[in-house]
Amino acid sequence: MPVQMESGGRLAAATGNRWLTAVRADFPSFLQDHASCERKASGMALSMAAHYPDRPELLKAMASLAVEELGHYRDVIGLLVERGIRPAPDTRDAYVNALNKVVRKGRDQYLLDRLVVASVIECRGQERFALIAGVLTEEPLARFYRRIAASEDRHWQLFIELARSECPDADIDRRWDEIAACEADIIRSLTPRAALH
Ligand SMILES: [Fe+2]
Ligand SMILES: [Fe+2]
Repeated sequence: MPVQMESGGRLAAATGNRWLTAVRADFPSFLQDHASCERKASGMALSMAAHYPDRPELLKAMASLAVEELGHYRDVIGLLVERGIRPAPDTRDAYVNALNKVVRKGRDQYLLDRLVVASVIECRGQERFALIAGVLTEEPLARFYRRIAASEDRHWQLFIELARSECPDADIDRRWDEIAACEADIIRSLTPRAALH
């Protein structure tokens, strides 16, 4: 059943309670993973920028996004240091790896799919960060996660806007539905852990 996000994004399945339980049971591990995710998000934006030097709007958007995600990384590192938690080495992100497999080859399809996959990832991030903000009792931390959720909300919309401007002939809604359905299967197949995915 599609999940209508407040600002209009649709995920094909909502995150279950077991994920939130896993995160609450080991918040330090979640924070370590969150830091890695922000750094990877910045790296993903940079790799998009490097891949499309001929698309000025995309290039500008990805340069700005890389800076913003790096700012989030800095903020989460701050939270780790405050709590005496050491950043952990990156672990394999089975979610992102599985989702990247839906990206088709061919110049136009590849670009469209990368933008839609990125949008769906941001949309899931928005959903999950908002869930976390909703259960945190420590106010500065809850506020921080509300802010992060709000920026993910902008990010999924940014990727859809880019898909509309860079791929004007594509049926973006249809591709969103297909990729969101795959994403829901991936989410259901993963064992919930104290990590974003
Ligand atoms: Fe972020
Ligand atoms: Fe983001």
